[in-house]
Amino acid sequence: MSGTEIKGATSKIENIKSEFPELNRVINGKPVVFLDSAATSQKPQRVIDKLVEYYSNYNANVHRGVYSLSMESTEEYDTARELVREFINARSTNEIIYTKGTTEAINLLARAWGDANIKEGDEIILTELEHHSNLVPWQMLSQRTGCKLRFVPIDDHAVLQLDEYKKLLSDKTRLVAFNGQSNSMGTLNPIKEITELAHDAGALVLVDGAQYVPHNKIDVQALDIDFLAFSGHKMCGPTGIGILYGKENILDEMPPFLGGGDMIDMVHYEYSTYTKLPIKFEAGTPNIAGAIVLGEAIRFLNDLGIENVREHERELTAYTLEKFQQNPKIKIYGTTDLDKRGGAISFEYEGIHPHDLAQILDSESICIRAGHHCTQPLMRKFGIAATSRASFYVYNTKDDVDRLIEVLGKADEMFSF
Ligand SMILES: Cc1ncc(COP(=O)(O)O)c(C=O)c1O
Repeated sequence: MSGTEIKGATSKIENIKSEFPELNRVINGKPVVFLDSAATSQKPQRVIDKLVEYYSNYNANVHRGVYSLSMESTEEYDTARELVREFINARSTNEIIYTKGTTEAINLLARAWGDANIKEGDEIILTELEHHSNLVPWQMLSQRTGCKLRFVPIDDHAVLQLDEYKKLLSDKTRLVAFNGQSNSMGTLNPIKEITELAHDAGALVLVDGAQYVPHNKIDVQALDIDFLAFSGHKMCGPTGIGILYGKENILDEMPPFLGGGDMIDMVHYEYSTYTKLPIKFEAGTPNIAGAIVLGEAIRFLNDLGIENVREHERELTAYTLEKFQQNPKIKIYGTTDLDKRGGAISFEYEGIHPHDLAQILDSESICIRAGHHCTQPLMRKFGIAATSRASFYVYNTKDDVDRLIEVLGKADEMFSF
């Protein structure tokens, strides 16, 4: 099946496409080539089976029942939290909050931490590379509190200008919030360096890990980041489940986000007291199935080895960039330095609008993304409305890239009249 020749340590990643049922589909007589994993990833059969297992065998509410089924579902739910803790090397499961996804995790933080800690005159540093999810919640906080948002500029290759970042830091800075890896330009940001500088200035750090965590090893203790947000659906898990990691002492001090069942200690008609972490931030019946299935996705990634995932994508990225660079009609956005980028490649094909290109590729069952990738200000910065984006994950192969290149050639012929 695979034309991928992955060296040494990456051998485990070979030939796993067949484990992903959707990738075995044939549409319009062509096998599906999925190059849109930055939007959402495909799911292996064992992850899909876990969902069926939960609803078939131990579907019951968690933390409430004293009967066996509820105890079983609670055990699986808590085990998944432990798997997440281990995956990012948090100190305690008290630091792992289940959310709907990255977006909700950042909104939780902006509301619960932001409203309690930010006031007029304070500053929050973001970057020009951010996804709308790491912009809009902070804009809303700024409107509520009068705090100021500052932005770390990028250079022409979509790499953060750290000298400019240093100039933005001051005793007014309360938070530095940035993505570990850009969904739009692929840039890998230097998390440790940015974090150390923020801490030196007395600010906290949030890493938007929506793209970083599924593709790279992360150790929240070694990096010393204060908060991390990420989504299950981009890492072979289900939609509707994500994580907010926070250092326990900071989460402990934060007021709750949503109120309701489970998150309470004592409830009176006029007031309530709240329970301990992590449930303090998990009001109501949570996405039990989602959490348990995310646990299975993490087991799957652990079996592959997350370092192997990164290596696999690095090789595919190198291969693609090399092919793209051979075609003068392709303009690559973002850096071509493989140490500074991941496997999401934004490009423009001369003379073909990204949406037209995506449609032609779709007619050959190749799925890429065309649009602003939820980074409108970044597109504006480059003076464009949209790019085409091909993004990789564990199941992609060099054959996939070859098919992309082949159909780009067909698109070129169609538009060259
Ligand atoms: C960098 C980045 N941040 C945040 C998000 C939002 O993730 P979600 O839609 O899963 O909440 C995305 C999704 O594409 C992303 O790429």
